Amino acid sequence: MQRTLGTCYYPEHWPEEIWADDARRMKEAGLTWVRIGEFAWSRLEPTPDDLRFDWLDRAIEVLGQAGLKVVLGMPTATPPRWMADRHPDMFAVDVEGRVRGFGSRRHYCFSHKGYLEESKRITRIFAERYGQNSYVAAWQTDNEYGCHDTVISYSAAAKTAFQIWLKAQFVGDIDALNAAWGNVFWSMEYRAFEDIALPNLTVTEPNPAHVQAFRRFSSDQVVAFNRAQVEIIRAHSSAPVSHNYMGRITDFDHFKVGDDLEIATWDSYPLGFLEDRVGADVETQRAYARQGDPDFQALHHDLYRAVGKGRWWVMEQQPGPVNWAPYNPSPLDGMVRLWSLEAFAHGAEAVCYFRWRQAPFAQEQLHAGMLRPDGVEARAIVEAREVAAEIAKAPEVQPYQAPVAIVFDYDADWAWATQPQGQGLSYFGLVFDLYRALRRNGVSIDFVRPETRDFNGYQLVFAPGLMHMADDLKTALADIDAHVVYGPRSAARDAQFNIPTTPLPPALPQLDVTVSRLETLRPDMPVALDKAGHAILYLEELEGTAEVLMQTQSGAPVVMAEGKQVYCGAWMDADGFDTLVQTMAARVDLPLRSMPEGVRLRETATEEFWFNYSAHPVGTEVGVLPAAGALRREKSAR
Ligand code: GAL
Repeated sequence: MQRTLGTCYYPEHWPEEIWADDARRMKEAGLTWVRIGEFAWSRLEPTPDDLRFDWLDRAIEVLGQAGLKVVLGMPTATPPRWMADRHPDMFAVDVEGRVRGFGSRRHYCFSHKGYLEESKRITRIFAERYGQNSYVAAWQTDNEYGCHDTVISYSAAAKTAFQIWLKAQFVGDIDALNAAWGNVFWSMEYRAFEDIALPNLTVTEPNPAHVQAFRRFSSDQVVAFNRAQVEIIRAHSSAPVSHNYMGRITDFDHFKVGDDLEIATWDSYPLGFLEDRVGADVETQRAYARQGDPDFQALHHDLYRAVGKGRWWVMEQQPGPVNWAPYNPSPLDGMVRLWSLEAFAHGAEAVCYFRWRQAPFAQEQLHAGMLRPDGVEARAIVEAREVAAEIAKAPEVQPYQAPVAIVFDYDADWAWATQPQGQGLSYFGLVFDLYRALRRNGVSIDFVRPETRDFNGYQLVFAPGLMHMADDLKTALADIDAHVVYGPRSAARDAQFNIPTTPLPPALPQLDVTVSRLETLRPDMPVALDKAGHAILYLEELEGTAEVLMQTQSGAPVVMAEGKQVYCGAWMDADGFDTLVQTMAARVDLPLRSMPEGVRLRETATEEFWFNYSAHPVGTEVGVLPAAGALRREKSAR
């Protein structure tokens, strides 16, 4: 498949006279795709039922005539002001009970039935009008589900829908819910599903079973909202349907949304993410301020490749400084090219830059585009042109199965958030630290979802932090060719968030290890390991007859193995996780390649891609890579 580039365009922001020239310049820069429409509702329907789609017809025509393919976005993340008059209770409500009102975007509650109908109505208008339009080559549902913390809403609509959801889960049996949640504790027993409120505004913490159920429900609401749009589009168009996910947003199960879509896309803002989402220390933030974290983008590329069942794009690529992070530096020259090539190395079909021209008005005035607000070229278009020329000449990136898989489970992320047991502990953080260790050792990685039962072709599978594990996942993992590393916190809760008691966790079929006690650690009290590094943050006491592979300096087992089954009872620092990766690689004969600081490697079936994320040249086994350098070569050249 030919890899392609694109951009995000807002014809409604610019005079119609310049559309054709914009389109010509996009094409000239080597772009294939242009995404439009996703925020345009107030111009398409300025007052209820007064449809003004003529301008959008012309915009699609102009772009298509210029040779561009259109991704058409549904405008449901930005309902116009009149919608609030029609549905005054459509807004989401925050944990403090405050209404999240009009004046920016994403001001709707996923559970509001009236708004769901409005979303279906506008989607149907789009689908009927453009379903057969040959320029519309892909669709996007809504925009960034979960952006601005919008999955979870404590509205009246959410409460009613949650009660109905629970009633279905427990087949109408309130005593079953009381028993499953342990509501005898603190006399929390309910007499009817209608008694159950949302788990906010309680005096102290609500029951974790209640919280976890509410998070599962909230995720299901996103899945249902998305599915409603997809079904309508499908009825009128055979073009693929996508959604643009985000970095480190885990409030809904992306795999389940992805089940209804042909393509997963995500919005990659490497510099924007660095401070708030990556969680790096200040020194690292300074070192990578103009490049972004060397592993954060790659992790999402790999994760969304799994969410997209192999088909995925970057729908929004940072083109220069953004406007929304604590600090907003410019990328080093070369980074826009590096980020683009990195996406292709991980299998992206397309990379689209956000946005075409910088907007001189409203919230994102200081967000760079490919063009400046006066239409003069900005740095990003220069690098995009280089990328377009390079991908046209280079061989096709071949699909590739990595030697190592990580099982990624959104439900586990909610479980850790529901009961972290210590500050700064998160499932995503644990997975990210392990992912980083694999990458520091030159390993390419696949993510797989927790419903996966076929692990064929992997040498090593990591299943960290899966607080609940389905019995058949346990049996499947006990029986595969790969070596499997579980823990910490594996199978620590049953499906309803209780500790299984007989036997105690993790109760894995082929591994005699029991977690007899656990502790969480202050960041300034690491526990030294005997070989290298430390256990940090989260540490379990392990009992059992399995062989000890790693231990603390005082001799407490930390990693235990029985044949191919391995349990790790700690969150570790970089040296600790490096030791774990190296220990496991040796057991399965997986060759490692130690990466110099800031340098990363991604393999495909036929090539190696090297990336230098550091701000200075670095010597590597493929030669000196300049700052922000990216190099690809045939594997046979090794
Ligand atoms: C994304 C969003 C875009 C734009 C961009 C700015 O999260 O989808 O609409 O706001 O951020 O960086």
